[in-house]
Amino acid sequence: MRHIGTVLIALCLTACGAQPPKTAQQKEVAESSGSADAGVRPLKEFMGHVVQRNAEQLWAWSEEISDANGFRSLAPKSDADWLNAESDAMTMAELASIIGSQAYAVDDKWAEFSARLLQVTSDASTAAEKRDFQRFSAASSAINDACVACHLHYVPELEGVQRDAVPKP
Ligand code: HEC
Repeated sequence: MRHIGTVLIALCLTACGAQPPKTAQQKEVAESSGSADAGVRPLKEFMGHVVQRNAEQLWAWSEEISDANGFRSLAPKSDADWLNAESDAMTMAELASIIGSQAYAVDDKWAEFSARLLQVTSDASTAAEKRDFQRFSAASSAINDACVACHLHYVPELEGVQRDAVPKP
């Protein structure tokens, strides 16, 4: 651990200036969008790389596995687990705020969908703080519902639904 800390500090001394060198992957994103330098990541990249990954990390706490080794739940057990679950939920709440920000909002409906996501991610965070697994698990499902509700409205094909099949508001 201490070794990693030293390496990070060393990296920061050389790379935390105004113009840190870009990795190949960052360059690819910048070139495909043309907007990385403007500070707003394209929504598709933000959803696919940041929101989805963090959501999966949060949902994993509510998973149950049944295989050759029998049945087990991945629910938080130790204090460290609960702290991590709380951090995952809080991270999702921050991401919900970014989704709802001026950078991505397109209309009033968008504000409603992102506010709902903020509400249920904050609820998951409170549930983790209280070590209430039932509430945490229910909030995790509600988070999934909040993602799907917005997709069904704006990008129904993402949820495997034809655009024409979605009733207009
Ligand atoms: C307020 C609306 C809204 C909410 C809430 C929302 N999304 Fe999205 N999401 C979108 C839109 C619009 C797109 C399509 C972006 C594009 O293709 O340009 C998208 C695309 C995606 C994609 C596809 C990315 C790709 O590479 O094509 C994933 C994955 C995704 N969202 C995950 C999530 C998850 C997980 C959540 C909930 C934790 C969530 N989204 C919540 C609006 C939303």
